[in-house]
Amino acid sequence: MAKITWKPGNMLYPLPAVMVSCADREGRDNILTIAWTGTTCSNPPMLSISVRKERYSYHMIEETGEFVVNLTTKALVRAVDFCGVRSGKDIDKWKEMHLTREKADVVKAPMIAESPVNIECRVVERTDLGSHVMYQAEVVSVHVDEAYMDEKQKFHLEDAKPIVYSHGTYFSLGEALGTFGYSVKQQSVRGANRLYTKQQSVRGADRLYAKKKHR
Ligand SMILES: Cc1cc2nc3c(=O)[nH]c(=O)nc-3n(C[C@H](O)[C@H](O)[C@H](O)COP(=O)(O)O)c2cc1C
Repeated sequence: MAKITWKPGNMLYPLPAVMVSCADREGRDNILTIAWTGTTCSNPPMLSISVRKERYSYHMIEETGEFVVNLTTKALVRAVDFCGVRSGKDIDKWKEMHLTREKADVVKAPMIAESPVNIECRVVERTDLGSHVMYQAEVVSVHVDEAYMDEKQKFHLEDAKPIVYSHGTYFSLGEALGTFGYSVKQQSVRGANRLYTKQQSVRGADRLYAKKKHR
């Protein structure tokens, strides 16, 4: 397979495209879309976001050291894009996108009520990398929409129809291919793959897998 070599650039895709809500010391708040984000530590739970200094939101995060990462869905994709191409210095993105502020538990920045998962974050380290400042932040509280909890208190994020961002395009997720560790479980991989192909939802696949395992 022949490969074309490109000059070095950002090519790590797909990525989550999250909406980050933030506020300054005076309580002015805003939302910006961030794709340069990632989980960086399990214990303590930490994540990072990278923000260009030109962003209106930048001074807010600098001032307070706090923000909320709001996960995004198919229903929110227009807002995701809009919040990533318009600046809060010119418009109120909450109003324009009909997004609702929800009070956070720990940080002062508001959460986006329409998002299925809100992750409250407090910056622990700031690194100026060049075009972007990377904020390493500790997760100080997590809120999940109870609508996606099942009877066994398992959270089904897939039911919220999460989206990803890949090289300039937003996508919804496709079929479930397996669950964590499925490749080393008793059942043959080929069998598992067949099951997952038949079943589109993780929940369905899990149920089938569990049945088979107990036979
Ligand atoms: C899909 C997408 C991903 C983006 N990711 C980032 C990012 O990781 N860091 C960043 O500084 N800007 C990113 N942007 C650009 C900002 O969201 C955009 O400049 C926004 O208008 C800034 O808002 P503000 O000026 O109100 O702070 C992204 C935009 C889009 C559409």
